[in-house]
Amino acid sequence: MSTAREPESPPSKVALQGIRKEFAYKGRRLPVLDSVGFDVQEGEFVSIIGPSGCGKSTLLNIIAGLEEPTEGSLWLNGNLAHRPLGQVGYMHQKDLLLPWRSVLDNAALGLEVQGVPRAQARARALALTERFGLKGFEREYPFALSGGMRQRAAFLRSVLTGKDILLLDEPFGALDALTRAQMQEWLLELWSAFKKTILLVTHDVEEALFLSDRVHVFTARPGRISLTMEVGLPRPRNHDLVTREPFISYKAQLLTAIRQESLSAQEEPWR
Ligand SMILES: Nc1ncnc2c1ncn2[C@@H]1O[C@H](COP(=O)(O)OP(=O)(O)OP(=O)(O)O)[C@@H](O)[C@H]1O
Ligand SMILES: [Mg+2]
Repeated sequence: MSTAREPESPPSKVALQGIRKEFAYKGRRLPVLDSVGFDVQEGEFVSIIGPSGCGKSTLLNIIAGLEEPTEGSLWLNGNLAHRPLGQVGYMHQKDLLLPWRSVLDNAALGLEVQGVPRAQARARALALTERFGLKGFEREYPFALSGGMRQRAAFLRSVLTGKDILLLDEPFGALDALTRAQMQEWLLELWSAFKKTILLVTHDVEEALFLSDRVHVFTARPGRISLTMEVGLPRPRNHDLVTREPFISYKAQLLTAIRQESLSAQEEPWR
């Protein structure tokens, strides 16, 4: 069910207002998110960074319609959204690829779930394997791929669903530093080629700064926004910029904010 929002130009792709989420835990209510509000405009790349357990994945689940907020409102494309299943592309933190499906069949899965016939879904996936660095590996199974390739295959599945809003939950968390840097540059190329609006969750300060137009730092649980940083770095970006000003100053500022948060989260230290 959708209701039109107050006229506004242009409407945000994603707008959150006063989001609160509580889970039932050992007979009590565990507050996980509190008063979270922000907007993401069309074509923006926005990151969320915050301590483990502060509700980042829960927030993405709410935006994807998998969880309902206890309080607060979510708008997608200017419309008030209630459990908006199927409106965004979502690359989850954990479940990446199905081990019993080939790369191509994994990539095609999102389309198949939407009701696209299998042959057509596979053809659409096949057309993009080169761009996603998977050419020649289409018939391999996930165990035979490198970590970076698995991530790209999972990313291809999310992009293929055709949604213009993509939620990425620590997509490069398991990769070594070099592969991670390559994947970040590749992601920026794709983002500009496909003109997506991206909301990314990461633990990596450098990654958040390198990729984003804006970074929201969350407090320890219950997650609230403690700092929002506009990242005024010119685009296109490559990794040369991370060793120079103003990147270094941005990074120092973010690290200070995060350190303060981790001090107040002694039970669940910053990973
Ligand atoms: N379905 C659920 N039922 C009860 N508690 C939950 C549920 N899902 C998440 N939680 C709790 O909510 C809190 C936030 O979880 P969430 O996965 O959103 O954290 P996160 O910020 O993504 O952490 P990480 O950085 O480790 O991925 C945690 O304490 C978690 O145990
Ligand atoms: Mg998480």
